[in-house]
Amino acid sequence: MAKDKTVYTCSFCGFQSSKWLGKCPDCDQWNTFYEEKRPARRSAACAAQGSEPLALSAIAAQQDARTPTGIAELDRVLGGGLVPGAVVLIGGDPGIGKSTLVLQALTRLSEAGRKVLYVSGEESARQIRMRAERLGPLPDNVLILAETSLEQISAHISECKPDMLVIDSVQTVYSADLESAPGSVSQLREVSARIIQQAKQTDTATFLIGHVTKDGAIAGPRVLEHMVDTVLYFEGDRGHSYRILRAVKNRFGSTDEIGVFEMSAAGLVEVASPSELFLSGRRNQTPGSAVVPSIEGTRPILIEIQALVAPTPLAMPRRTAIGIDQNKTSLLIAVLEKKIGLKLFNQDVFVNVAGGVRVNEPAVDLGIVAAIISSRLDQQVPPDMVLCGEVGLTGEVRAVSQIATRINEAARLGFKRCILPENSKKNMTDRHGIECICAGSVQDMVDCIFKLR
Ligand code: TYD
Ligand code: MG
Repeated sequence: MAKDKTVYTCSFCGFQSSKWLGKCPDCDQWNTFYEEKRPARRSAACAAQGSEPLALSAIAAQQDARTPTGIAELDRVLGGGLVPGAVVLIGGDPGIGKSTLVLQALTRLSEAGRKVLYVSGEESARQIRMRAERLGPLPDNVLILAETSLEQISAHISECKPDMLVIDSVQTVYSADLESAPGSVSQLREVSARIIQQAKQTDTATFLIGHVTKDGAIAGPRVLEHMVDTVLYFEGDRGHSYRILRAVKNRFGSTDEIGVFEMSAAGLVEVASPSELFLSGRRNQTPGSAVVPSIEGTRPILIEIQALVAPTPLAMPRRTAIGIDQNKTSLLIAVLEKKIGLKLFNQDVFVNVAGGVRVNEPAVDLGIVAAIISSRLDQQVPPDMVLCGEVGLTGEVRAVSQIATRINEAARLGFKRCILPENSKKNMTDRHGIECICAGSVQDMVDCIFKLR
């Protein structure tokens, strides 16, 4: 009989080596290697299925077989619905609402006549029932299986042949074929590979729920993200009730759409108009605040950028940014010092995107700059004004995409004026009753809003 081989695996990234190493050569983490036995023979379930090469044109085309989940915000992120056989990995902090989201989706799918199976390794069937009771009338046809053994789960899937399957969470499932503990890298790799293989063979759309590490990445080997078709992150601030679902990889759709939900006493509620939600806490008459029309995917969202500039006792003043890139903030501060002559070297600068959203679109630059100047001069940006434009290192304001969509959203929420890049003006067709003021440089914007000199 072939002997089991000992391998050392990095618990962070899954890198394998034949001897123990202090530092992982792949991910540079220290002291992450642990010993495990690799079975000499892989189980039959993993044996590759035989298939023949085919001409691309000879492959039978699939009609648009997407199944809408019934939750519009989830469908938007998935690219229109679930594709048969697709495997979707959902990651997110504990308690953010992953289990709630998939249970709501399964409920809708079962109401639409689909056969659905919810496998839970974290909660008992009774706990899931309690959650479902909070979410509304109990669905009749959602099958619940509280099980952690991969072999058992596999057998149940083959038996009930569901159209949609949820594994909550993939870290709790273990295979008896492997010696290592549930949740270890080798278990995770094996378990996921087998579930994915079964999903593809039986055309079962599958949601895998994954734990995240303290840095926010999905726990386990990086290869997990390569193996699945779609990776979604469910994020949000514990202090706020809304949640954002974001795709970081999607084989069947675009990755720049986001879904916005609000966690309520009766589960997750879709937010059709996120701008209203994000601007709801805004106070009109305060310096240090600017509203920018940002684009997330195909959807415009108005967000409030806040800045606080305060004298510092420190030799090295602080520059803190939440929700936007720290380096970008430093860069914009340098532009303000050099091009506008705004003294910030003895000031702490804090920039925050209100509501805890994250933006990384260059079009918000002008809003950040306006908020900083506004706080420094203690003069407010007019409350009926929005700003958009990318700021370059020479202080110029550069064109942004989809200007008409942005203006339209600002008009819808009652804004009256917009400062926009000079070069974007030619793309403006309809102004929706908004007064458009063009700025070629940051100085133009300052001249328009603040009386610096
Ligand atoms: P859950 O889906 O269990 O999170 P995860 O699976 O990501 O760990 O969500 C649990 C949180 O959501 C919990 O803090 C309570 C809150 N919640 C509500 O506010 N309303 C609800 O109707 C439900 C079901 C949960
Ligand atoms: Mg859960």
